[in-house]
Amino acid sequence: MLENFRLLSNLFLETQKLLPILKKNRPMKNKNLISLTVALAFVLLAMTGILLFVKQKAHFIEMTHTIFGLLFIGFAIFHILNNWDSIKAYSKDRKSGSIKKELVVASLITGIILVLSVTEVLEPVAEFGRIFASGAKRPQTVNFAEKKTLDSTKGHAVVLLLQKGKEGSMAGVSVEVADTTGKVLETLLAADKEMKGPPANLLLQTKIASAAPFDLILTFTHEGKSNKVSRRVQSMDAGVLSLEKQEGLIERAYLEIQ
Ligand code: HEM
Repeated sequence: MLENFRLLSNLFLETQKLLPILKKNRPMKNKNLISLTVALAFVLLAMTGILLFVKQKAHFIEMTHTIFGLLFIGFAIFHILNNWDSIKAYSKDRKSGSIKKELVVASLITGIILVLSVTEVLEPVAEFGRIFASGAKRPQTVNFAEKKTLDSTKGHAVVLLLQKGKEGSMAGVSVEVADTTGKVLETLLAADKEMKGPPANLLLQTKIASAAPFDLILTFTHEGKSNKVSRRVQSMDAGVLSLEKQEGLIERAYLEIQ
């Protein structure tokens, strides 16, 4: 608080030194003001952008980046309008009206990069900054995708919490109920074929209609290879059942029977 107050009072004193410049009679040109603001906003935007790129994601950095991003966009629109004639001249021949080479090449460069970005081919470039991030400072987070299935069917409400092991971390998971002979009775969760990026851990709210005992079959699928893990559920009495760990695939799993 005291630090902020000191900062503000210093800023006020510094601003006072600028007053004689502001008092000069020469009228201010909007075009120049806009160009200078765009340039200064770009410097701060690029600095905070690079900090975010190397995963320095303190809240004030994210906020400053976003605010200067918006300021940049606001002023850049006017900057483009002010310089529209020049932009047209770079793109089209004034006399013949034909498109210039520069416009074709600039469009090709941005078009190719756009396609490579949307298709995630350039992910290694976008994620390169991660190598500068200090691992020690980063808090360990575990992500869970919350899913709800069989909501409207009859059955016993359960919640399955599954934290995958290292090997299984890239795998999509399907969950089935099978009788003790291995015959599948119900599918609680089918593997998500549309899923993009590494699949998160699972928090599944669902219903089981089968009577215990039964086996809960977890199938981990990655790059066409599947690994099945089976866990016996002996009774459906309310409570939390801890399912046994499986090296590499199941770090921890709990079935809450409601
Ligand atoms: C010099 C140009 C820019 C650079 C280098 C840059 C770079 C970045 C980087 C590296 C991130 C972090 C991405 C991640 O999550 O890993 C980011 C986030 C972001 N950028 Fe930019 N950016 C630029 C311009 C802009 C502009 C013009 C806007 C417009 C508002 C903007 C808005 C944002 C927002 C909203 C986020 C998310 C911040 C958050 O997590 O709260 N950026 N940017």
